[in-house]
Amino acid sequence: MATIVIATAMFPEVVERLERAGHGVEVREGGLPPEALAQVEALIVPLSLKVGADLLGQAPKLRVVANLGVGVDNIDLRAAAERGVAVANTPEVLTEATADLGWALLLAVARRIVEADRDLRAHGFPGWTFLPPHLGVDVHGKALGVVGFGRIGQAVARRGRGFGMDILYASRSPKPEAERALSARRVPLDELLAETDFVVLCVPLTSETRHLIGERELRLMKREAILVNIARGPVVDEGALVRALREGWIRGAGLDVFEEEPQVHPGLLDLPNVVLTPHIGSATEATRRRMADLAADAVLAVLSGRTPPNLVPLPAA
Ligand code: NAP
Ligand code: GLV
Repeated sequence: MATIVIATAMFPEVVERLERAGHGVEVREGGLPPEALAQVEALIVPLSLKVGADLLGQAPKLRVVANLGVGVDNIDLRAAAERGVAVANTPEVLTEATADLGWALLLAVARRIVEADRDLRAHGFPGWTFLPPHLGVDVHGKALGVVGFGRIGQAVARRGRGFGMDILYASRSPKPEAERALSARRVPLDELLAETDFVVLCVPLTSETRHLIGERELRLMKREAILVNIARGPVVDEGALVRALREGWIRGAGLDVFEEEPQVHPGLLDLPNVVLTPHIGSATEATRRRMADLAADAVLAVLSGRTPPNLVPLPAA
């Protein structure tokens, strides 16, 4: 019997499944004090929890960390490798939900849905006017730029095809099959920024992608363009983005992720041309259940000496 700690609220069925497999399970929503770590062999963590060398150092029996998310930038992979701790994540099962949320943001900003809703609630239905205060921009038939053409990037692009859009992408490696399937064209990032009407960020956060979009890149974008970030906050220099939105270098932005989560840059909060969501890309009930199951699968696999399919490759220790 191993001790499993789940560091976030969890579906009771998943806790019961781990218990039925013969393990002791603690659900700890309020942080992980040293006494919670001393005996732990498996940790299921929300991606908001930093799993650094210090935390790993307090958990001498730990064998696996299962991250409730696909991005693993919250985990010190080198420290995990050095301690022989396996790391698993939740790829695939959240791809479509996250792409949907990206599109929800794109459409909300383009058609000014949140502004219109706020005004209707505050001032009532104004009557049909030919030139309403919330004139938006067309989405159909425009150019969509996807930065990071992996699982989520391609799912965003697939939806773009349904809107009759031209698809451009910038990614570390070419994706010839997806190019053919989606009639997508790989271009350098600068060209994508200059030529597309909607730019959706779908890269992982790494040392190369931190501030991938800063003042220079925002100034390359069209003045009518809309930026959507469903990747990670630090991929965008938020200070530069606030200036871009205030000064009209671009038309608007839809943001699900923020540079200093859980803080949101105060400059974003009073801008009308942004739509903000609190990192809810994968937050549908069905998707969260699949993520929880996958994390539980990974823990059970490692505890019984098997390799889970969603093991994250670790750097050489
Ligand atoms: P993925 O399949 O690994 O796709 C990431 C893509 O980004 C890959 O194609 C990768 O290229 C490319 N890439 C990596 N570094 C790059 C760089 N420096 N420049 C350009 N492209 C680069 O991952 P995914 O499942 O689509 O997830 C992507 C990210 O989305 C996650 O890491 C996470 O941070 C974020 N995410 C956010 C939410 C949310 O709630 N908002 C939900 C899920 C995921 P290669 O193909 O060459 O490796
Ligand atoms: C969410 O942000 C994830 O990485 O799954």
